[in-house]
Amino acid sequence: MHTIAELVEFLNKIGQGHLAQNIDKFTEQQQKEFLEQVNKLNTTYPGGLEEYTKRAKVLLKNSADNVNPYEGFVPSVPIGEKVNFSSFEEVAGLESIGREELNHTAFVLVAGGLGERLQYDGIKIGIQFEITTGQTFLNYYLDFIRAFNEKAELAIMTSDDTYTLTMKLLEENNYYGFPKDQITIMKQEKVPAMIDNDAHFTQLPNSLLIETKPHGHGDVHTLLFQHQLPKKWIQQGKKWLVVFQDTNPLVFRALPSVLAISKTKNLEVNSITAPRKPGEAVGAICKLTKGNERLTINVEYNQLGSLLPKEPVDEHGYSVFPGNINSIVFSLQEYDSVLEKTKGLIMEFINPKYADATKTKFKSSSRLECMYQDYPKLLENDNRVGMTQVNRAFCFSTVKNDIKTAGQKFQQNLAPESASSCEQDLYFMNRQILKLVGVHVETSDASDYEFENIKLNLSPQIILKPSLGVTLAEIKNNIKNTQVTITRNSTVVLDGETFKNASDKLEIDGQFNVPANYQSKTKYRTFVGVDSKAAQHLLIRGYDVKRD
Ligand code: UTP
Repeated sequence: MHTIAELVEFLNKIGQGHLAQNIDKFTEQQQKEFLEQVNKLNTTYPGGLEEYTKRAKVLLKNSADNVNPYEGFVPSVPIGEKVNFSSFEEVAGLESIGREELNHTAFVLVAGGLGERLQYDGIKIGIQFEITTGQTFLNYYLDFIRAFNEKAELAIMTSDDTYTLTMKLLEENNYYGFPKDQITIMKQEKVPAMIDNDAHFTQLPNSLLIETKPHGHGDVHTLLFQHQLPKKWIQQGKKWLVVFQDTNPLVFRALPSVLAISKTKNLEVNSITAPRKPGEAVGAICKLTKGNERLTINVEYNQLGSLLPKEPVDEHGYSVFPGNINSIVFSLQEYDSVLEKTKGLIMEFINPKYADATKTKFKSSSRLECMYQDYPKLLENDNRVGMTQVNRAFCFSTVKNDIKTAGQKFQQNLAPESASSCEQDLYFMNRQILKLVGVHVETSDASDYEFENIKLNLSPQIILKPSLGVTLAEIKNNIKNTQVTITRNSTVVLDGETFKNASDKLEIDGQFNVPANYQSKTKYRTFVGVDSKAAQHLLIRGYDVKRD
């Protein structure tokens, strides 16, 4: 479209003529900007705005009619394995297989989300997620990926909300030492917001411009296809693709084992899951069957409830349908063929907030969304779609909630998913890893701090840099014959250099290898609560290092 007349004609044709009703009241410049916006939205959405409106109307009707997409399906447990991290031997066998596969793995970070629930003014991957070394999420991810394989490639999906700040973070930190030419930055575009069941688009106040909202992380598949990355990676000899989220640092320790399961079970899609209690508000990975139809997919917990009045449990009381943590390993060859056939277009959904029981008008505008875990819906059969259930302490803890909400969740016995609980869980995992490789770590089940109504067990604080090893065997080899003991009140950073010239004994009691600006002046490091003037990354956890 080049002219305003063409624009008006187009909008009328797709049932969005109301947008141009008052077009004469706006300046030429404003009309031009509107034309440009419609052209852009029309080209970025596959099939254009006509297709978007058409799909929205169908989904809105289904939503108003309460259609359950899984009606009549019977859930059963999908293929897969469990990794419990119960002993060195259990994990080391798997990790030796997965370690080799990591040499042929590409990574994708979905980081286009705004993180509204966290109320952090900035991008989530820029958060200093632990205050023992002060590293950011992105720093940690890049260090791990490089330690997995010097030639590993990473694509980051950003959005209008995160692109500029992601580039700034990378540039200002010199890409944290990661080879720049091995990173691809992709950007997802927003989609029009709608206000009624006829999918009428909404406009910004006093403007011609269409209100737009994020389309969801399912865009990652379309973007990977458009950038032709799977093809490039296959040509480089890569076999696997790992998609991970912006605020879960634990999952990197599970990846070697999970890749081993992908390889030995020959899985085309392998979702990482964690044990979940029946009814817990987490999506579950299920195999759904109806006649000849089969689909192994993430089912939201409320949908599962309607398919299955009582969830069967295992001997520990966990549901046999484990919780989806939204990190998925794909086999690249098959993934690429599926993208060629489908362009990676994931089935969408809509979640309108209705104004009243008539379900005709919305309280606030709504838009089509898509989720990357819905990928199995693109497959012709689900024979090779499965999961790996990993001990939650070794694969999942995220930073999603502001500290007040997190405190309320903690009081209700739910996972707080705060910066504080994620930091605690990281230290817990690292203590367990050291114990598994034979280090004597003094621990206690009792909490040692409470901030913002959340009881925390933070000590000892242990950071294990990927340079110390990315598998249990590597860490064990690095520590060699040094007998290490760590007391409860210690704060410890271990990396690839720590044991280079170590003697047979290393008894740590206090602060060891902690950067100067994260130390307390006293022998033992402690934490204190912060007031409202503190830096943001401290406000979202509620404490800081007591420096004097
Ligand atoms: P979250 O569930 O954490 O959602 O997304 P969010 O939008 O980031 O946070 P809230 O709901 O506003 O608080 C899960 C993952 O998907 C990415 C996020 O960056 C995160 O890694 N995501 C989400 C996208 O990449 N694009 C989106 O449109 C939405």
